[in-house]
Amino acid sequence: MVGSKSFELNRDIDSPNRNIAPVSTEINECEKLVVGGCQLSELAKKYGTPLYVFDEFSLRTACKTYIYSLKKHYPGDSLPLYASKANSSLSLCALIASEGFGLDAVSEGELLTALRGGMKGENIVFHGNNKSFNELKFAYKNNVTIVLDNHHDIELLKKIASDEKPAKLMLRLTPGIECHTHEYIRTGHLDSKFGFDPDEVETVLKELMRYNWANLTGLHAHIGSQIFEVQPHVDLAGVMADILKLAQKIGHPIVDLNIGGGLGIKYVKEDNPPSIEKWIEVISNSVVKACRERNLDLPRLMCEPGRSLVANSGLTIYKIGAKKVVPGIRTYLSVDGGMSDNPRPITYQSLYSACLVDKPLNLKSEKVTIAGKHCESGDVLLKDFFLPPCESGDFLAVFGTGAYNYSMSSNYNRIPRPATVIVSKGGVDLIQKRELPEDLLQLDVLPDRFIPKN
Ligand code: LLP
Repeated sequence: MVGSKSFELNRDIDSPNRNIAPVSTEINECEKLVVGGCQLSELAKKYGTPLYVFDEFSLRTACKTYIYSLKKHYPGDSLPLYASKANSSLSLCALIASEGFGLDAVSEGELLTALRGGMKGENIVFHGNNKSFNELKFAYKNNVTIVLDNHHDIELLKKIASDEKPAKLMLRLTPGIECHTHEYIRTGHLDSKFGFDPDEVETVLKELMRYNWANLTGLHAHIGSQIFEVQPHVDLAGVMADILKLAQKIGHPIVDLNIGGGLGIKYVKEDNPPSIEKWIEVISNSVVKACRERNLDLPRLMCEPGRSLVANSGLTIYKIGAKKVVPGIRTYLSVDGGMSDNPRPITYQSLYSACLVDKPLNLKSEKVTIAGKHCESGDVLLKDFFLPPCESGDFLAVFGTGAYNYSMSSNYNRIPRPATVIVSKGGVDLIQKRELPEDLLQLDVLPDRFIPKN
């Protein structure tokens, strides 16, 4: 295996979130990049660019590591749920369901995708701070567990759920723990649009006892995303165990404790997130300890990984086009995608790693800035990045794009979304077709009076 300056190969094969590139990534004898046994430049030629590529081995490894770690470190029952907001498609839902995961959804679209992808309603939880009547009805009909986020949810469910078929519910708490990527704060009240404030939880729990249509069986909290520390989740276990005790005392048969998602991933060399197993170990130990200290039976432990399950199994291939040298300032290389297929750099100033797929080694590097093709100066994917000399037509792989890229993509400038393929052992399957400009007109309506008469 050949080393490289811009990304490491197979650093921690059991924990894909600690590898910038998918774990099956290799450099072949012709020094070209290969993922899942497929040479990336061949995929780009066959399916066009930009192209989202998933490595099935990485994805399944991440799933298996979550399942295995929960079994190893948590003595009670457990169910990991895929936070499908990270990337929702029929194939990803089917693959992740086949590994024994449940799923978290936040809209009818995500619910529908999960159900059609083969997830059982019983293994889906439905979140959201402003669920509509129709969304709640759809979730209820499909036996999905509904996460009560506010009083509006309760009022709508009164009109939907019946005493004969009570709605299965979880209660979302605002736990007073706020994470900013590398540090966190604890406060009594949080400025968050999600969940019930700790002060009102008791009243809500008592109110729910009065409703025969309500079957509250779980508690939920989520404290943030791309978190590298484990201490916030240790603290969270104590906060949730207190509420668990209170809820049981009031009379609710709480059996599920859902601690949300948030485990960080490696986007660039400097990132050093905990492994999946370490994260699960810490969470398991904290929940066990918090429950023992309060004489509580162990609940079924749920967690909701999104990014750490799918991000590093995915990458995006672009084709390099125009080059602009601003003497003494910067060299821009423009690619055939950008902020519409990856809005994270312009939205969060997120950093990524990349390499030329047919020249993956950073020999004789030059400093370039990779720009997208959208009409926006800030449409830059990687700023001041080192690449070997390259020319128009070369393919570039940007790593770590499996989460929150496709799911946050847009058609800005009426640019169609890329296709997605999944690779495994030298084989490739198309799992999402490329949008065509014609597709973008499908929902447009042109009233007769706007059509020129002659
Ligand atoms: N559960 C709940 C209730 C959530 O709100 C989230 C993420 C997750 C689980 C999954 O968190 P993860 O394991 O992926 O960190 N668009 C942003 C990320 C927003 C995350 C929102 N909630 C980004 O691109 O960085």
